[in-house]
Formats: sequence, C-alpha cells, structure tokens
Amino acid sequence: MPKELGKTPPMGWNSWNTFSWNIDEKLIKGAADAMVETGLKDAGYEYVVIDDCWSLKERDGNGRLVPDPEKFPNGIKAVADYVHSKGLKFGIYSCSGTHTCANYPGSFEHEFVDAATFAEWGVDYLKYDYCFKPKGIPGELLYRRMSMALRNCGRDILFSACNWGNDGVHDWIRNTGAQMFRSTGDIQDSWNSVKNLALSQMNMRQSQSGVYCWNDLDMLVVGMRGKSDNSWIAEGGFGCTDDEYKTHFSLWAMMNSPLMIGCDIRNMSEATKNILTNKDVIAINQDVEGRGPIEIDHWCNESCKGLVKPLENGDYAILLVNFMDGEHPAQFSFNFWDMGLPYNSGYALEFYDVWEHKVVGTFKERYCTDLKPHSCEMFRVKLVKTDAQGVDLNK
Ligand code: GAL
Repeated sequence: MPKELGKTPPMGWNSWNTFSWNIDEKLIKGAADAMVETGLKDAGYEYVVIDDCWSLKERDGNGRLVPDPEKFPNGIKAVADYVHSKGLKFGIYSCSGTHTCANYPGSFEHEFVDAATFAEWGVDYLKYDYCFKPKGIPGELLYRRMSMALRNCGRDILFSACNWGNDGVHDWIRNTGAQMFRSTGDIQDSWNSVKNLALSQMNMRQSQSGVYCWNDLDMLVVGMRGKSDNSWIAEGGFGCTDDEYKTHFSLWAMMNSPLMIGCDIRNMSEATKNILTNKDVIAINQDVEGRGPIEIDHWCNESCKGLVKPLENGDYAILLVNFMDGEHPAQFSFNFWDMGLPYNSGYALEFYDVWEHKVVGTFKERYCTDLKPHSCEMFRVKLVKTDAQGVDLNK
C-alpha cells in the first residue's frame, strides 16, 4: 500500500553522522542487531539506512550501480535481507546529480534503472541528494523523475529528498511525491547547530510539513558526544550535553521531523537510550494528524520560545525552550491566551510532563517556570473544566 508510506514522520538510523565513508556489511548488520536489542525497534524506529560511499566509482557494463566488494562482499541484497530478517526496513542513498556528494556515481539519467536495481535488492527507503546537479535542469524535475521511477518500480520505497532547503523546495516538494525533504544544511554535533536548524524552520515552514511529506531537520546528533569519523560533523569533538540532546530531541519531535538517529547505536549510554526511546515524546511526533506547531514568542525574551501543537485526541503538546547562552535561568511565563484558551473559558490545563512521565499540576491562565540555558520542558496538556478559583498559577 504505497499511500501509507510517510503517514507519520519516518523513524530509523542512518550511517552518515558517525561513520560517513567508513561503512561496511558488519556495521550495518550490527546496527540492525542493536536496533532490536536496545529497544529502539520497540520504540518505533524501523529504517536502517546506508548513506553515501557504498558503491564503486563506476557503473557496470549495463549501466547499473555496483556495491563496493570490499565494503559489501555479499552485495547489498544480502544486507537488506538481514535487516528484513530482524523485522526492520532497509534504506540506501543516491543523488539527483551526476555524482553523489562524496563523488560516487549519481542517478542523473539513470533514475529508472537505479529504481529497478534498488527494488531488486529489497530497498525500502531512498535518500536522494543534490550534489553535482547539472545546470539548466530544475531540481524539481529531478525529484519528480526519481519519484515516478520509485512509484513504479514494483516495490514500496519511501522517497527521502535531500536538497538542503534550496530552490524553494518547501513549495514544490510535496507535489513531486516525496515523503520527506531536508530543509536545512548538514547538522553538526553542537548546540549552535541544533539551535540554528530548529529556528530556521519555525512558523510558516511548519505549515508546509505534514502527513505524507515531512520537513526533515536532518539526522539526530543525540548521543554522538563528539564521536564521528567525519571531523566536520564532530565539530571539535565536544558534542552536546545530555540536557542539550534532550532539547534537540524534543524540538525534532515537536516539529514533526523524521527521527533518524545518527549516533553509534551499538554503544549507547543509558542517558542516550532514555532520550531516544521516550515513548511519550515519540507519541507526540507520531500523532496521526501531523499538525505543525505554532511558535509563541516569550513576551520579555525572544530567545525563549513556546511551541504548541494540537493533537488528534483534543490534547495539546507544549514545548518550552530556553535558547539563550549563559549562566542564568530564564523566567518563563506561558500564557494560555496565546494558544487559544481565554481565562473566562471555564477551562484549565492539566500538565503531564513527558520527560518526568507524570502530571505536574493543573493551571489556569498561565504556566510559569524557570528554564536553564539550552534546556526545555515538554508537556502533553489536557483541558479540564474548572471554576475560576482554587487552581495553582505556579508549580
Ligand atoms: C550531504 C547530505 C548529508 C550526507 C552527505 C553524503 O549532501 O546533506 O546528509 O548524505 O551529503 O555525502
């Protein structure tokens, strides 16, 4: 049933952030094992995706892509079969230009033969990049081409477009048939990178993302802790704190981004695992209506933001983030008026903290809290009938 692909934001793991060109059969199989053993699969992650650098530099005599025999001695199909045997789905990477970003053959003018090859190998997901795009042909047309090829290759293959937000992609990508689209440049394992990517895609950008075609803020850096074979992504090797990774994951979940893990899932700390498998947070990301959040600026500090997202059962998700640097917490006052709930409505909000996994109180008119720099609080809130008295304003 192709129409079900991308009904909610895709979830999985991708090799690029940590391993870049250092990929092989053992790594991918190990990632599939880890996906099951660590509980990631149970939490909803399903795609195991090989990024760039998996093929030889030349096509074969029939114009087909050839897996690098040193990295993948048994071919790609064997890896896909293994991933499938774990109850997971398998993804691969190509490029709309003549070459991939790492200079391997791209799919330009080979779209239909490549789609057929991928189908034969058992591919379920294709990430499609934008390097070496020939001049004079619109990118939009190249994504239409590959989408058509995939939709007619005889296998359900999710199409993950990756043109980094260029050429007005937000306006045309849904109509090409892609299920997700990268809207930003590449993420790095640092707070600034996380912050800049998130801030670049708020408000209007969020209403251009939804069911069957999701705005992809890039693979997660949660748990990388500066470890990457790619020094640009490692960005100094310091990574983020667990608190910053928690904010990062909350933002991606709240903004309906696909959740593609980028750390080494074979070696995760407990803290990393707890962040990535938080079912309450994932449920907000996977809400069937897929409505984007509205952004509510803090009245006294523009670096503090509230995001509010309506959920299918009448609840709302609320994420409060302090984007500021420094030592001091920000005082946050989140007024329910801004999300559509006036004081005289007769309703208060019951706040369930999705990181603490408990109800923290019922509030009327506003919720006040102190947020440390780079930290967040995230809630699922429920409307409850109340009289005007007897309800806490502060926690
Ligand atoms: C970039 C892309 C990255 C990664 C890389 C591979 O263009 O944004 O996510 O796929 O190419 O070379």
